[in-house]
Amino acid sequence: MRAYEIIHAKRDGRVLPADAIAALVDGFTHGEVPDYQMAAFCMAVFFRGMDDAEVRALTEAMLRSGDVLDLSDVPGAKVDKHSTGGVGDKVSLALAPLAAACGVKVPMISGRGLGHTGGTLDKLEAIPGFRVDLPVERFRAQVRDVGACLIGQTARLAPADRKLYALRDVTATVESIPLIAASIMSKKLAEGIDALVLDVKVGSGAFMKRPEDARALARTLAAIGRGMGKRVTALLTGMDQPLGRAVGNALEVAEVLELLRGGGPADLRAITVELTAEMLLAGGVAPELAAARAAVEQAIGDGRGLAKLEEIVAAQGGDPAAIRDPSRLPRAAGTYPVPSPAAGFVQAVDTEAVGLAAVALGAGRARVDDPVDPAVGILVERKLGDRVERGEPLCVVHHGPRSEPRERIAARLAGAYRIGPAAPPAAPLFLERLT
Ligand code: URA
Repeated sequence: MRAYEIIHAKRDGRVLPADAIAALVDGFTHGEVPDYQMAAFCMAVFFRGMDDAEVRALTEAMLRSGDVLDLSDVPGAKVDKHSTGGVGDKVSLALAPLAAACGVKVPMISGRGLGHTGGTLDKLEAIPGFRVDLPVERFRAQVRDVGACLIGQTARLAPADRKLYALRDVTATVESIPLIAASIMSKKLAEGIDALVLDVKVGSGAFMKRPEDARALARTLAAIGRGMGKRVTALLTGMDQPLGRAVGNALEVAEVLELLRGGGPADLRAITVELTAEMLLAGGVAPELAAARAAVEQAIGDGRGLAKLEEIVAAQGGDPAAIRDPSRLPRAAGTYPVPSPAAGFVQAVDTEAVGLAAVALGAGRARVDDPVDPAVGILVERKLGDRVERGEPLCVVHHGPRSEPRERIAARLAGAYRIGPAAPPAAPLFLERLT
């Protein structure tokens, strides 16, 4: 089938044969299928979906677009974590060094910002000099010698996802279980891992807004991983407000540094400890979850997590001094508060709107080749259930030369908050654990 016929068939809701999916992915990876046809295909999948066999075929085709690493010569359990995407989700930056400090090897292929969500690679690149484009050989050596390495998809590792991810980011074709599942699992299965911990986000800032959709995504991801012989644990976690306070690349790095120094927001710490503990359990370096949590807390308390992050930064060309001294991170041109239009309690946050405001500030992309501004972002001053008086700040904006004007950003952010007379019931951070 030609690309046109494949798009046509999916547009009309037909099930595609595996060889057609493989040919499309191969053509796209090698530049024979242009972006506009692939974008049309993604939109057709968005509306029509895929059955299990099609998702498997798409994942396999994307995985086989590059190499599949064999890390069997690297001693120790190789375990990774992946989040399905959220706002203020900077967990990987703390989790990878913590897990490595506790004895797990972490080969991590991450993504950039996607839609309204931030991406680990953009956050890492806020650290001056940090390189996410290491060749496979250096990736392997760093996993072995340092214990963790965080890179992006490359021309050799998950190249189909590299191109498709960037295309979906700017064509509103992200929120699709088949596309998310194939994107995540093609990267993760290329890494040579033994086990994978999935953080499947659910809520107003997630791609899956409803628990039943998040559960379906978790099951799809886990089935693909287990079908390829990996141990998979999935947690459904709440994304009804930004995680922590910081949204935006350098601001998020600074918050991670606070966390690794023993401080930081409670929700960020709780989720980081839990997901890292799941990695220790999956990697067999802790006998049960309570012991795993204690080991992670200890690696925060005695500074081994921070020291490991510094080692990773140095190994990947970044300025390790920025880890000890966050004032070396990029700083925004200026800041302004967004005042609350009313007195009351924060009852709901449209977290996707907060993420889109960060993109409009320049923290994410409007077009595939847009640069991001590492310094811009939002510091959340009021979280769900917090009391606020009229005129007090809901958040503080860090803006830059490419940011949307202040009135538009302030309107986006003020409009994202619902303020009412009573505090809402506490939003659960952990919804479900699927093993
Ligand atoms: N994370 C990914 O790697 N891909 C997606 O499509 C969504 C989240």
